Amino acid sequence: MKYEFPVTPCLNPKHKPDMNNLPFGVDMADYMVVIEYTEGRGWHSGRVVPYAPITLEPAACVFHYGQEMFEGLKAYKSVNNEVVLFRPDMNAKRANSTAERICLPYMDEEMFIEAVKAGTKANIDWIPDAPNSSLYIRPFIIATEPFLGVRLSKSYLFMIIFSPVGPYYKGGLAPTKIFVEDEYTRSCQGGTGYVKTAGNYAASLKAQEKAHQLGYSQVLWLDGVTRNYVEEIGTSNAFFVIDGEVITAPTNEGTILPGITRNSVLTLLKEWGIPASERRLTIQEVFDAHKEGRLNEVFASGTAAVISPVGELRWKDDVIQINGGSIGPIAQKLYDTITGIQLGKIEDKHGWVEKVCDL
Ligand code: COI
Repeated sequence: MKYEFPVTPCLNPKHKPDMNNLPFGVDMADYMVVIEYTEGRGWHSGRVVPYAPITLEPAACVFHYGQEMFEGLKAYKSVNNEVVLFRPDMNAKRANSTAERICLPYMDEEMFIEAVKAGTKANIDWIPDAPNSSLYIRPFIIATEPFLGVRLSKSYLFMIIFSPVGPYYKGGLAPTKIFVEDEYTRSCQGGTGYVKTAGNYAASLKAQEKAHQLGYSQVLWLDGVTRNYVEEIGTSNAFFVIDGEVITAPTNEGTILPGITRNSVLTLLKEWGIPASERRLTIQEVFDAHKEGRLNEVFASGTAAVISPVGELRWKDDVIQINGGSIGPIAQKLYDTITGIQLGKIEDKHGWVEKVCDL
């Protein structure tokens, strides 16, 4: 191993929640990872320490100008009695893509992966066994220099926290109701829509709240210029199955997050011989396809929810039921295959599963 992460033992382990009935993102595991960055010295002092509050100056840059990035991945107990991660190399690459966009210091991808593994090992008792559960891993970087001018910070903290989680949506794989948002937008060309930075999520809350108040669990975002093209669903990538073709928004315009589950979905669909296209699609085409009986399925993909079927879409005053309000065969097969690979129940032909340690 290229990097060492000394562990400070946790002398007061927390009381564990009901590990068979976990909400998403509420409970934090006993250990966290900390790595510091100082200008001129680079990343240093990596360590695993007990989860605890941190002290920052109120003038720290992150509080004022939001120079932050985060990632999300999961650790599982596989049926082969191993602790595994799913495609952590993709998270490491995307972390650097985010870092590049918002001027955070570059990280050696091996350091990122080894830090995730060190923290996962320390939290091994916090990986749930229950179905549809895992240890959600949240790496993030914040700008810590106390300085109120607008410029790059000279110091940063990279931390990783760990949270045992159940399904992202309370209903698990139950189809969600989605509100098509045509007022607020999350992304436009030249912006930050393709990276994972806190500001994108802050800017999304207003629309999410509006959707909740109207009885919908999430929004379907439209493009920021014309409000015609479908982009993402909440914090996930969106897929539309029309006449048997699976369509998702392209990432080459810089407005879509290049999801790791999205990439896995496209890879699997190609292997299965199901036509899959990354192309622009208007919301009008989606509603027209439904009226003509050609809209077979809609679903979202993300690390948190894996695959989340959509049962209802509302666009202005038009409400449509998709696949009779139940999960469609493509979404179901993708969910079963991806979670099957993650848990070691299905052969990992792509080398997506990375072992952390034996159980
Ligand atoms: C994901 O679905 O992977 C996400 O990014 C959701 C997370 C912000 C909770």
